Amino acid sequence: MANKCGPSDPWKECLEVAIDVAQKAGAIICEALKSEHTVQIKSSPADLVTETDQNVEKMILCNLKEKFPSHSFIGEESVADGAPSILTDNPTWIIDPVDGTTNFVHRFPFVAVSIGFYVNKQSEIGVIYSCMEDKMYTARRGQGAFCNGHQLSVSGQDNISKALIVTELGSNRSPEIVKSVLSNMEKLILIPSHGIRTLGSAALNMCMVASGGADIYYEMGIHCWDMAAAALIVTEAGGVVLDITGEAFDLMSRRVIAASSKAVAKRIAQEVQIIPYLRDDQEK
Ligand code: IPD
Repeated sequence: MANKCGPSDPWKECLEVAIDVAQKAGAIICEALKSEHTVQIKSSPADLVTETDQNVEKMILCNLKEKFPSHSFIGEESVADGAPSILTDNPTWIIDPVDGTTNFVHRFPFVAVSIGFYVNKQSEIGVIYSCMEDKMYTARRGQGAFCNGHQLSVSGQDNISKALIVTELGSNRSPEIVKSVLSNMEKLILIPSHGIRTLGSAALNMCMVASGGADIYYEMGIHCWDMAAAALIVTEAGGVVLDITGEAFDLMSRRVIAASSKAVAKRIAQEVQIIPYLRDDQEK
């Protein structure tokens, strides 16, 4: 079989560029942590944006567009400014400049740059840089997942009673949604499972599953830029990524289960109550 990372790999340069750009973005974020930031509210008082999110996204887009002018781009802050978030067959970069903006605002040390790359709607590259921890997670389809050059492997845990779960309260503060989110957590903790943790970054929660530090991550209400890179990192680490129903994962559906085994992923799908959200590619 041809080595996909060899000279014949059409996307080798894309991976190198993504790592380089993620490193530059991380440096900007770490520098910005030293000063005060202006925080603006997006969809809810818990959905924040800063000038750093906007500046970092501009820098990433500018670098990628210069290298790959024919490619398409979906970026969190561009979509917030009205750009479409439609995934086509064209090579497409999906970017979250600062995943964990609330963490960034509070200097809670889980802040990531997330860059995913899709071709024909299939994930080819995932790069996530946890800049305060200086951890660079990378994956190339069919070539494994790595953190700072060390190969990643999920825990393989297949018993939910022995599982550590990561999830989020999310940024929606509608009382009914908060009630459903908490009731899902209550069900899972009373199985009983080993516990629930929350890092405040969907991308880093998924990297935690890929690294074997947690066994399951699930969330509803997140966006394609939160999971585009991380989904590949989890599957390349031997994990399973499914829709919250237990069916095939759909990047634009705003929900995900990432797990150490199919058995625990399916169990989460059985237990949780689905919270409906408009898809990312749905007309607003
Ligand atoms: C947020 C984080 C968080 C998740 C929110 C996301 P952002 O991303 O990933 O973990 O619960 O739903 O919006 O806004 O910091 O890029």
